[in-house]
Amino acid sequence: MNVVILAAGQGRRMHSDLPKVLHLLGGRPLLGHVLTTARQLDPSRLIVVCGHGAAQVRAAFGAEPVQWVEQVPQLGTGHALLQAAPHLDDGQPTVVLYGDVPLIGRDTIEALVRAAGRSVGVLTVVLDEPAGYGRIVRADGALVRIVEERDASPAERAIREVNTGILVAPTGDLRRWLGELRNQNAQGEYYLTDVIGFAVRDGAAVATTQPRHVFEILGVNSKGQLAALERILQQRIAAELMEGGVTLADPARVDVRGALRCGRDVSIDVNCVFEGTVELADGVSVGPHCVLRDVTVAAGTRIEAFCHIDGAAIGGGARVGPFARMRPASRLADHVHVGNFVEIKASELGTGSKANHHAYIGDTTVGSNVNIGAGTIVCNYDGANKHRSVIEDDAFIGSDCQLVAPVRVGRGATLGAGTTLTRDAAAGKLTLSRAPQRTLEGWKRPVKKGRTAS
Ligand code: UD1
Ligand code: CA
Repeated sequence: MNVVILAAGQGRRMHSDLPKVLHLLGGRPLLGHVLTTARQLDPSRLIVVCGHGAAQVRAAFGAEPVQWVEQVPQLGTGHALLQAAPHLDDGQPTVVLYGDVPLIGRDTIEALVRAAGRSVGVLTVVLDEPAGYGRIVRADGALVRIVEERDASPAERAIREVNTGILVAPTGDLRRWLGELRNQNAQGEYYLTDVIGFAVRDGAAVATTQPRHVFEILGVNSKGQLAALERILQQRIAAELMEGGVTLADPARVDVRGALRCGRDVSIDVNCVFEGTVELADGVSVGPHCVLRDVTVAAGTRIEAFCHIDGAAIGGGARVGPFARMRPASRLADHVHVGNFVEIKASELGTGSKANHHAYIGDTTVGSNVNIGAGTIVCNYDGANKHRSVIEDDAFIGSDCQLVAPVRVGRGATLGAGTTLTRDAAAGKLTLSRAPQRTLEGWKRPVKKGRTAS
């Protein structure tokens, strides 16, 4: 089939400079959802009609194999489809989707196409509150035409069966009907919906089918509708996770803005946000209020409350947080402990190493069984360049040390607390940079001028 996605409209009611189809739902642009579904249909031609903010829309999907058609100016849905008409394959039927109706399901489209056979099909739905939609006018049960709300009589407005906008038609006929469209209506637009009236006039059979779920046909015209669809999407993702065995403390308080894959016996506490691609292996638990973006976590690891983890790979049996921050290109091996107020950037920590309190570890390769004391800072940046450091296996870094990169701490080396390391530390030895402790006899605290010392 040919698939055409109409996405040229302005989205005035969003009150935003961003083109409507680029607003995010589940972390992806609205149009991205429709494109994914369209591609599942394996179309011979996939065309997106853009117009408002066309350059921005095209740039956002620059890498995707899509044929773009521009509609300037935007004179209605029929006019939009007409712009795509020259690019359609006549040997295949044409399916019309909408860039602002993101949750339409593949099954629903396929059922519509099947029902239409070699003729026309319209996806309709019965709503308790049909306001704003085109109404499906029937006579003796058969569809006669679609009337837009603004052009409808009071009797027609009372009809609760509405046009979802999604349709399929034989391409040659469709092209002919599009050529016949006129804009003598309340909005002065070329309505795609008028095509259905022409089909009936020409004796073409018009099938109607309904979506599996009503949410599939809900469109985004305002921020309120966007938020409502976001909730629907998140509820569905939460339901899928639970069906797969994930324990969610509260399915209404988890947000997945990308792909979250979980093993067995994974549990996720409230108010966690997952972005990009996140993989949690068997037995992983994530505490409340964590943000994980592009992270893999191996089996049995515990992420405690309030962690922010971005672009990291965490081994098995590890413990992270509470209040830990991991930045891109960080790798923790198995059984590593990273505690509160520890920031890790572009660094690896080997098996069993620990940094439990208040530390910054940047651009550092840390071996296994290393203990990094509270308050340790790797000074990886000299104001102009970043440098890498190495801390070898079994080293012990005392509290409040600074490692001025690039430095190497040898295997089994110990740094005394408060050391500022500016050269490599020898393996197996104690290195200190502290001034020796002294007690000054006869020293007195200064006193305020004008007072005599007591
Ligand atoms: C349209 C249908 C209406 C249906 C409703 C379902 C028509 C005339 N009406 O109305 O029967 O109930 O959808 O949601 O088709 N677009 C363009 N170019 C344009 C105008 C619109 O590409 O010139 C695109 C928009 O970006 C959007 C889609 O077409 O993705 C629908 O446009 P919109 O103006 O929202 O149509 P509705 O008034 O909602
Ligand atoms: Ca709309």
